[in-house]
Amino acid sequence: MAGDDITRMAIEIIRQYPDHPARSLARRLVEAANGALTLDAARSRIRQQLGQCGVKNRKRPASGLERQARSPGEGVAMPASRAAPWAPYDPQLVGLWGVLSDIHVPYHSEVALKAAVEHLKLQKIVGLLLNGDIADFYSISRYVKNPANRDFGNELAQVRQLLKWLRGEFPGVKIIYKQGNHEERYQVWLWQHAAELSLQPEMNLEVWLQCNIYDIAMVGDQLPVMLGKLPVLHGHEKGGGMTAPVNQARGAFMRLHHTVLEGHGHRTSGHCEPDMFGNETFCWSTGCLADLRPEYARLNKYNWGFATVDVQADGSFNVQNMRITKDGVVRSS
Ligand SMILES: [Fe+2]
Ligand SMILES: [Fe+2]
Repeated sequence: MAGDDITRMAIEIIRQYPDHPARSLARRLVEAANGALTLDAARSRIRQQLGQCGVKNRKRPASGLERQARSPGEGVAMPASRAAPWAPYDPQLVGLWGVLSDIHVPYHSEVALKAAVEHLKLQKIVGLLLNGDIADFYSISRYVKNPANRDFGNELAQVRQLLKWLRGEFPGVKIIYKQGNHEERYQVWLWQHAAELSLQPEMNLEVWLQCNIYDIAMVGDQLPVMLGKLPVLHGHEKGGGMTAPVNQARGAFMRLHHTVLEGHGHRTSGHCEPDMFGNETFCWSTGCLADLRPEYARLNKYNWGFATVDVQADGSFNVQNMRITKDGVVRSS
């Protein structure tokens, strides 16, 4: 009897008797195989399928039948959870940070980006947070696309050029690149078009963008980035249902009930919510650094902007939400 047949029988028996301990499943396997294998061999075949072959060899069985090991007489255990921990990314760096978002390379505004970068250089920042939608990734979006602009290789090259330029402008500064919904287009595209390759480490976006060369830490999985006690989101993490509030910062407060700074809406806004004892919760949204007349929304209410966040050793912070005029002048409100 071939090994594959025995494995198939083991899987069938486990499916048929999901509550039985491994030893009794092994006995059934020996029976079903007409004694073609010993009880010990049958037990290890069963344990392989249950994912119970020790930490070192614990590959997830393809059959998806893994479960916790049980002692004889022990009842059925709760199923193992596949939920992964989700915790904010905390660079733990005190000092002045710059926050740039929604650059949308190659549809960025050279005027706005230059103004923001010049301002941050004068401020002598210690950290730079690229807060999502830094790349547009137009050519791999799921929307209908202009065939003239479907050159993903060129888009990647331009984002790499941006990162290289920023590293040159800010030598020695900690740079974090948090993914926004436009960067997530890459993962979606990969799963749809090259699922077999998607788990290879070479396929990670940070590898394509050469983040290691420019010493840039990429943060994915929609994790908030903590600047002291201030959580920073791109803004798409909150999901649908409040996509276009009149005031984005108020919309963020209504969803999160916590102070937050976010981008994504391409509009500068702020909202202060005091409680009955006068404790204030403040939320901010930053403007964008992209073309203000994109082809998908020629007329809109977008504005240019960015923020600085001064982080103290005790985690307290001071946000300055800056606007940039159409002439490239930086304004403090
Ligand atoms: Fe954006
Ligand atoms: Fe966005």
